[in-house]
Amino acid sequence: MDINSIKITANSDLLQMDKNTLIAEIKRLKKEKNAVIMAHYYQMGDIQDIADNIGDSLALAQWAAKTDADIIVLCGVHFMGETAKILSPQKKVLVPDMAAGCSLADSCPADEFEAFVKAHPDHTVISYVNTTAAVKALTDVVVTSTNAKKIVDQFPKDAKLIFGPDRNLGNYINSVTGREMVLWDGACHVHEQFSLEKLVKLKSEHPDAEILAHPECKRPLLLMADFIGSTQALLNYTISSEKKKFLVATESGILHEMQKKNPDKEFIPVPPNDSTCACNECNFMRLNTLEKLYQCLLTESPEILVDEDIRERAVKPILKMLEMS
Ligand code: 13P
Ligand code: SF4
Repeated sequence: MDINSIKITANSDLLQMDKNTLIAEIKRLKKEKNAVIMAHYYQMGDIQDIADNIGDSLALAQWAAKTDADIIVLCGVHFMGETAKILSPQKKVLVPDMAAGCSLADSCPADEFEAFVKAHPDHTVISYVNTTAAVKALTDVVVTSTNAKKIVDQFPKDAKLIFGPDRNLGNYINSVTGREMVLWDGACHVHEQFSLEKLVKLKSEHPDAEILAHPECKRPLLLMADFIGSTQALLNYTISSEKKKFLVATESGILHEMQKKNPDKEFIPVPPNDSTCACNECNFMRLNTLEKLYQCLLTESPEILVDEDIRERAVKPILKMLEMS
C-alpha cells in the first residue's frame, strides 16, 4: 500500500482498509510520531489489544504523568484525556472521538458544584476523577475508585468532607470508612442500570459463581457482591480467586482482559434493567474505534486543550491524589 496516498485520502481509504492493515498503520504512525496509546479497560477488545498501556483511571493518570512520548492517545472518555493533559501539559493529548463524554461527569456542572461547595464552608472537597477539569479546579483532592478508601482514611475521623459526584461510590466509601461525607447527587447511567432481579436469577442459575461489582453500582446490588472494587481491583480479584465462574457488574469491556488473564475461567456479564441485551456497555466508551484511532494519529486531532488557569488549579488535587495513593 502506498502510504502517501493514505495520508492524502485517509477517509476514503479507510473504507477499504482491512483490519490487519489498519492495525499495521496505527503501529507505524505511533512509532513515527513517538506516540503512546493508553486504553481504559472499558474499551473494545481491538483497542485494548493495540494499546501500549491498558488500565483503570488511576493507572492512566499515573502513566500520563510520567510518559516520555510526545503524543498521548487516550482511548477512553473525555475526562481521562483531560486528566492526562492536566498532568502533562507539554504533550499533545489526543482522543479518537471528542464526543466520548461521561454521564457521571455531566451530572456535576461546575457552577452548581461551586454553589454546593460554598454552601458547605470548612469542608474539604474530595472529587472522583470522573469530573471535568473545572470541577477538579474546585477540589482539594481527587480520588479514583482504586484509591478512594485509602485517601479518605487519611483524613481525621471528624473531618468535614464533601464527596462528589457519584452518590453510589460516596455511599460505599462512607460505609467502609465510617464517615458521613456530604454527597453530591450524581451517578453513572451504566452502573445505575444493572438489574438486581436479573442478577438474582443469574446467581440461582450459577450458584458456584462469585459476584463482582464496581462501587458505582447501587447499594442493593453491592450488598449482593462477594467482591467490590475498581476495574483493576476486580481484575486482580479474578486472578487471585480460586473460583472458576464470575458474574460481573461493571461495563462489559473489562471481560476482555479478565478472559485473557484467566483463560480457564468463565465470566458472565450482569445485564441492565431495561433491555434484552446480555451485557451493559458504556455508549461513550464504545464511540472509539480502530478507524477513529487511526484517523486521530494520522491527523493529530481531535486534541484535548485545557485553559491554563483551570489547569493550574486542577493539577493540584490530582498531584495530591498521586501523592496519597
Ligand atoms: P475505574 O476507576 O475503576 O477505572 O472506573 C472508572 C470508570 O467508571 C470509568 O468509566
Ligand atoms: Fe462515565 Fe459511566 Fe461511561 Fe464510566 S461507564 S465513562 S462513569 S458513563
